[in-house]
Amino acid sequence: MWAILRPNSIAVVGASRDPSKIGSRILRNILSSGFQGVVYGVNPNASEVLGVRCYPSVLDVPGAVDLAVVAVPARFVPQVVEECGRKGVKAVAVISSGFKEVGNTDLEKEVVEIAKKHGIRILGPNIVGVWDTRTPINYSFIDANPLPGSVAFISQSGALMTSLLWWTRERGIGFSCLVSIGNRADVGEADLLALLREDPRTKVVAIYIEGLGLGEGRKFLDEALETSTVKPVIVLKAGRSEAAVEAIRSHTGSLAGSDEVYEAALKQARALRAASLRELFNWALALALSPEPGEGTAVILTHGGGAGVMAADVLNGMGVPLAPLPQDLQERLRKFMPPFGSARNPVDLTGMMTAESLRGALVEVLRDPRVGAVLVWAGQGAIPTPEELGEAVVSAVREVGLAKPLIVSITGGGECREVLKRLIQAGVPSYESPEDAASALAAVYRYYRRRGERKGEPARVEGDRARAKEILGRARAEGRVLLTPVESFEVARAYEIPVVEYAFAPDLETAAKAARVIGYPVALAVETPDVAHKTDVGGIALNIKSEEELRAAYAKVMEVFARNVPKARVFGVSVRKMMPRGFEAFVGARRDPVFGPVVSFGWGGVMVELVRDFSLRVAPLTQDDIEDMIEETKAGKVLKGYRGPPLDVEALKNIVASVASLMEDFEEISSVDANPIFVYEKGAVAVDVKVYLKA
Ligand code: COA
Repeated sequence: MWAILRPNSIAVVGASRDPSKIGSRILRNILSSGFQGVVYGVNPNASEVLGVRCYPSVLDVPGAVDLAVVAVPARFVPQVVEECGRKGVKAVAVISSGFKEVGNTDLEKEVVEIAKKHGIRILGPNIVGVWDTRTPINYSFIDANPLPGSVAFISQSGALMTSLLWWTRERGIGFSCLVSIGNRADVGEADLLALLREDPRTKVVAIYIEGLGLGEGRKFLDEALETSTVKPVIVLKAGRSEAAVEAIRSHTGSLAGSDEVYEAALKQARALRAASLRELFNWALALALSPEPGEGTAVILTHGGGAGVMAADVLNGMGVPLAPLPQDLQERLRKFMPPFGSARNPVDLTGMMTAESLRGALVEVLRDPRVGAVLVWAGQGAIPTPEELGEAVVSAVREVGLAKPLIVSITGGGECREVLKRLIQAGVPSYESPEDAASALAAVYRYYRRRGERKGEPARVEGDRARAKEILGRARAEGRVLLTPVESFEVARAYEIPVVEYAFAPDLETAAKAARVIGYPVALAVETPDVAHKTDVGGIALNIKSEEELRAAYAKVMEVFARNVPKARVFGVSVRKMMPRGFEAFVGARRDPVFGPVVSFGWGGVMVELVRDFSLRVAPLTQDDIEDMIEETKAGKVLKGYRGPPLDVEALKNIVASVASLMEDFEEISSVDANPIFVYEKGAVAVDVKVYLKA
């Protein structure tokens, strides 16, 4: 895998004699990127291109080849990969387009199969190429190089990567590597995360994702989580809207999946999710250059009240601590401002600020151990000039060093750009707008806060697998996609989910007997495998208080249900104890094509859709995941005692773990829905459970 970034020898397959062709451009870029290794050309029609010796096939190359970069028309790629395999090449980057992204899925599969057979890792196809600034190498067809630095950028979109090359150069943002992964037929984000985690030169991994492949989600999540413990992972996931999802499908041929699930998975992975490219790189820059924030408060240092307030708003909104400064520090800062300045926090040096006073105040806050991080905002004015502002910051940093995050924003005309770039080169993440600076600082805080969190113990419930399997097997044998209510209760019970007391009754007399045992009041529900929502069709009677009522209710339920859904099979009824109302929560799960089982928890009852208060996580879950799910919702606040006694959160957490385990253990279950679950001060009971099977 490392050969993808750090090859010692390369063969460019399709090294064209025509300088305008991609193969020729790649060769030229490799030669001019300062690559120190051996380069070969492969072209059956040429013996030499750009001074590089060419061979008819990879098999004819005399020396070893670490990496083959392939730029021949798609239909020739399988044969080229086969030859690479025979040559012993272990890494192949396929630049060529014309695969899955245009519907040529079989051709892509063929390439991957040949590669697998030979133990080759394939990057691409459909990529712009790779830059690694340490090797250094540029084996893309773009003749520009990024600035060296410590951000690794992985992108499914080649065009985006290319345009960002210039954008980031302008701003002084440097990279350890840029990897275009295109259709990601083999090497994906997860593989690269595992690689870059070990790379000391990469301090931040930034990823642009359109969609992961079928069933790949969990691996990505695990690698991102593992990486997040040592360096930040920032993800821009495109495709929040349906229209975008459609566009993605036709772009890289990948499966976009539900945005809500990505959102949950990224949280679970402790990755930072950026909302725009600007955020992605702003945050990456701040995280690449900043150390961990110190213990004390963050400080905003400015000469304009308005910008100070704006930055404070952003920081507050993102949970960054902004406390008044200690009195003695305030006293020391007063030396650098007129009497009408403010030394509280934001520290306002006022319009009288000079380069010297900015420098002096900055040295004070950088030095004070009670300050955890510093954000400086200055607007361009006549005095001091942007250059002088920049100098003041650099000089303070030179004197004190950077043991805590320092983020600078200078707002003004074109002159500011150069100053910001110089600040970045001096190791200070700097931005034009105060909001960008504040958002970047908040990202630094968020990363380091979450990094310290435990990954948590697994939350598993070892249920009675044999019992659940028997019930599920029977339903499947009958070709059903829905379990009856009683079957659902039994499966739930097998996985330790507390359910309402119930009994199956094939006829009225058995129902009456069961009701006597359970004790009135009871509820009746038609036992059918064909209708999930029985209330809507008169299949349920609630709050039956006596045998007389039961007999009447039985007759009515049967009659109305049969009239409404005459085709539905009826096996009898279930008699259930009427439970006193508790707080209504729900726990559900479904199978996501990308991430696998996804578990949800939230405010339950009939208003679920209206309230929309829920959280999701990808199973397998840890205890911390479940805790986070509860924390994220309003329902969680009620459970923990909002204007009332605390309810049995532990009982509910166990149900979440049970549902997750059930989904993990039985691939054939497509979804589970326990709603409502009555949660009491002591205990929780699922009043209704639905289990759906894959079609
Ligand atoms: N092995 C080695 N060389 C071969 C070959 C083989 N099996 N088959 C052909 N070649 C040589 C050709 O002789 C030619 O060299 P020449 O010009 O000296 O004769 C060279 O390889 C290129 O082949 P050609 O048929 O001219 O293709 P091309 O350069 O027009 O296009 C691609 C090839 C890969 C660039 C093109 O198919 C493609 O996919 N373009 C899109 C790339 C892209 O956009 N990627 C994604 C970015 S996000």
